[in-house]
Amino acid sequence: MQIADRISKLGTEQAFHVLARAKEMERKGINMVHMEIGDTDFDTPRVVKEACKKAIDDNKTHYLPSQGLLEFRQEIAKFISKTRGIAVEPEEVVVTPGAKPIIFYTLMATVNPGDEVIVPNPGFPTYESVVNFIGAKAVPLPLLSEKKFNFDLNLLEKLITKKTKYIIVNSPHNPTGGILTHESLVRIAQLAKENDMWVLSDEVYDKFIFEGKFESISSLPNMKERTIILNAFTKTYSMSGWRLGYGVMNRDLAKVVSNLVNNSISCSPNFTQWAGIAGLRAPESIVTKFRSELKKRRDAFVTEIKKLPKVKCHTPPGGIYLFLDIRETGKTSKEVFEILFEEAHVATLSGAAFGKYGEGFLRLSFGSAPVPRIKEAVKRMAGVWPKILK
Ligand SMILES: Cc1ncc(COP(=O)(O)O)c(C=O)c1O
Repeated sequence: MQIADRISKLGTEQAFHVLARAKEMERKGINMVHMEIGDTDFDTPRVVKEACKKAIDDNKTHYLPSQGLLEFRQEIAKFISKTRGIAVEPEEVVVTPGAKPIIFYTLMATVNPGDEVIVPNPGFPTYESVVNFIGAKAVPLPLLSEKKFNFDLNLLEKLITKKTKYIIVNSPHNPTGGILTHESLVRIAQLAKENDMWVLSDEVYDKFIFEGKFESISSLPNMKERTIILNAFTKTYSMSGWRLGYGVMNRDLAKVVSNLVNNSISCSPNFTQWAGIAGLRAPESIVTKFRSELKKRRDAFVTEIKKLPKVKCHTPPGGIYLFLDIRETGKTSKEVFEILFEEAHVATLSGAAFGKYGEGFLRLSFGSAPVPRIKEAVKRMAGVWPKILK
């Protein structure tokens, strides 16, 4: 059997390959520190688990409409309306297993071959992968450490052509932890309106901000209609393995995206959607607790990691990652990644897995590593650092 030509254009999310490799090491009895995957190690809140168990007992175990359970979409619409200050209707919500399918479905539904899509680089690899898969052109917008990983708005303006259909924003940002300022969002919105572009706003880290406050580009005047919001329960409620996410978009696009759901997975699981309702109705303190623990980890990690010679590190204002500048070590990201993985048994990700402007960096997740584990990781890294500097 021959694999179709189009598949050669599809990229991948490296984190899952490194996770599989780390699990393989563990099967051999090797103790690994997991900093590769963008997950959190918190237990899913009890109220969510109880709602899921009840839904199963109540036989919420059958097909649902492809767009998602109405009661769940109502709850999501209420949440987005309240937190973004925009009026969202359940017809504008599509439920998917995680946030990632929304990237795939919405780009498939709206981007033609030959269109251009501006993507932050380094950035979440699925954006570029899907854009290339469609036969469109991913135009990288470099996020530079020297500029604290902010958007260079003058450069952004220069990258826009007649073919530009979209700009993708992700704040707080994976892998850098950067947050787009209000001024940046206003300028991006202005450019989107002037040039008739869509904005895909990836808001999966909206609750994990340690300094400043979350702002969605969809809240700015006349931006709701040209913004697609994607969000998930993955990070906020520590539910990565449940696969529960959603997109918010105009109702015509929601119908098309629902048909993509219909053609691929029929619908998202039933009982997890009932669990999602419980999550959205739960007190905010659940998430606040996660956030304060993550802030503790971030602060400890930044302090510890700076003890390694020839590394630089910004304190990320949001997200669950450190994006470590290792350019002065003289080794490539991949080389450092390999030494840390094989010899220190610390699983990280090469910055190059997030695009060419990620070269010279390493991404380390503190989502799954409590402070003692962070200390252990840095101790192990220090043990092999002389080799890295050789
Ligand atoms: C920026 C960003 N968007 C989307 C996703 C995908 O989320 P999900 O696991 O809900 O599909 C992730 C996961 O790491 C992410 O970091």
